[in-house]
Amino acid sequence: MKKVGFLRPIRQFFFPVTLLETLLRKRIAAAPSGMMPFASLMEMALYHPEHGYYGSGPRRIGRGGDFFTSVSTGPLFGKLLAMLAHREWQRLGRPAEFALIEQGAHDGQLAEDILTALNIPGARYLLLEPNPRYREAQHRRLGDRVNWIESLAEAPAHAFYLSNELPDAFPVHLVRWNGQNWLELHVDAALTLVPAEPSSPALTTEIEKLPSDLDPGHTMEISLAMLEWVKTFSQASFRGSVFIADYGYDAEEFLTRPAGTLRRYRQHQTDDQILSDLGEADLTTSINFTRLISEAESQGLRVLDYDHQGRFLTRLATPWLATLEGCGLDVATLRQFHSLTHPAIMGRSFRCVLLDK
Ligand SMILES: C[S@@+](CC[C@H](N)C(=O)[O-])C[C@H]1O[C@@H](n2cnc3c(N)ncnc32)[C@H](O)[C@@H]1O
Repeated sequence: MKKVGFLRPIRQFFFPVTLLETLLRKRIAAAPSGMMPFASLMEMALYHPEHGYYGSGPRRIGRGGDFFTSVSTGPLFGKLLAMLAHREWQRLGRPAEFALIEQGAHDGQLAEDILTALNIPGARYLLLEPNPRYREAQHRRLGDRVNWIESLAEAPAHAFYLSNELPDAFPVHLVRWNGQNWLELHVDAALTLVPAEPSSPALTTEIEKLPSDLDPGHTMEISLAMLEWVKTFSQASFRGSVFIADYGYDAEEFLTRPAGTLRRYRQHQTDDQILSDLGEADLTTSINFTRLISEAESQGLRVLDYDHQGRFLTRLATPWLATLEGCGLDVATLRQFHSLTHPAIMGRSFRCVLLDK
């Protein structure tokens, strides 16, 4: 990580355009339409195996990285999720064969925090990780305390499937209302956004669900990747629970954001320069939780709880906090609890969903 941080400013002084930008310009210029859907560009900007932001291996998250997550605030988040997994295991009747399955485990920090606090006899911890470089980093941290699976088809009969900040990192399609139609934003070889017809029937189906009483120029993201992901875990054969934590809003709150929620993170600064520093900056969107939940329900899942992270985690922690009465929390844990739950920090912008499947 240090090496990249040291070389990047030097390279950018001589080559202000990133390697990925050069590659993209060539690829777009060679395309018959002379453009590509923004979602395809975002996929490459995040996951190109050499030049993508996440492709080349886990970036540092937290103080030395580009952004914080609930995991980077400290081990308390993992401890609380260990309690949740235990509660769900009990709800399922304490099955003998049970696994926690994490997707988007990054460098394995959350897995380590959960495993340190976990108290479920015989439970396995499985990571669903497609990128071999991430698997290596996870193996370095966790050794044989975890196993890797290729897909949810390998899940045991009972499982607690979890992710933190996963769908916000999925590529999204961008659509813009022109006063008469919703058009999809593509990117041309000059790396500028161009409105054009939707690139797939699946996108057209989602566009048909959008309102048409908005001001011209209103821009929104549609995450077909998130909908596919919901279908995949809903249709997997394990019985158990699905826990998802991420930042986002209910559907109507997106209507109050005419520029959409797509943004870029770099060294703890965020802005809307989504076509700058491609491959060097994180691109992310807020989750449309209404749509995520409606898709899960249409696949037969049931919402057990859905709330702002602050309220969700406070409810979850309450029985444990009651056992500490008179002793209190140490200062570091108290600070983490404050960061995770305070409405002005992560308590309100993040939401948690717990689904029964
Ligand atoms: C914002 S980071 C969150 C990392 C970590 N969960 C945390 O909370 O600190 C998003 C992570 O999701 C991973 N990711 C994206 N798509 C994925 C997929 N289909 N399967 C597994 N991981 C994925 C990225 O590689 C990245 O590590």
